[in-house]
Amino acid sequence: AYIITEPCLDIKDRACVEVCPVDCIYEGERFLYIHPDECVDCSACEPVCPVEAIYPDDQLPAELAEYAGINADFFTAVTQLGSPGGATIVGPVETDHPAISRQLGREH
Ligand code: F3S
Ligand code: F3S
Repeated sequence: AYIITEPCLDIKDRACVEVCPVDCIYEGERFLYIHPDECVDCSACEPVCPVEAIYPDDQLPAELAEYAGINADFFTAVTQLGSPGGATIVGPVETDHPAISRQLGREH
């Protein structure tokens, strides 16, 4: 699966959402999360992110390794959304993974 990492925080450009053919990129309060089971590894999202926040899981830099769990846990322990089969029907969720929530705000 593809994984969204730290640069997305408080940026939330959403270009990735526009190009994902399976609507598997879900919006939280300060970050977006790719559903690890719904992602079909098409790679469309990676080049369109203006802050280069997206990586395939097998190319995730070591310093961003925790983001694999952050994306996955959002759908289980954090929101218990499970696998809804599409972000549009869920809409923005007004919460984030605790590892995201505790990060300080970014200057715009
Ligand atoms: Fe979606 Fe393809 Fe990325 S399925 S999350 S656009 S790799
Ligand atoms: Fe975030 Fe980049 Fe998508 S900033 S919302 S991962 S286009």
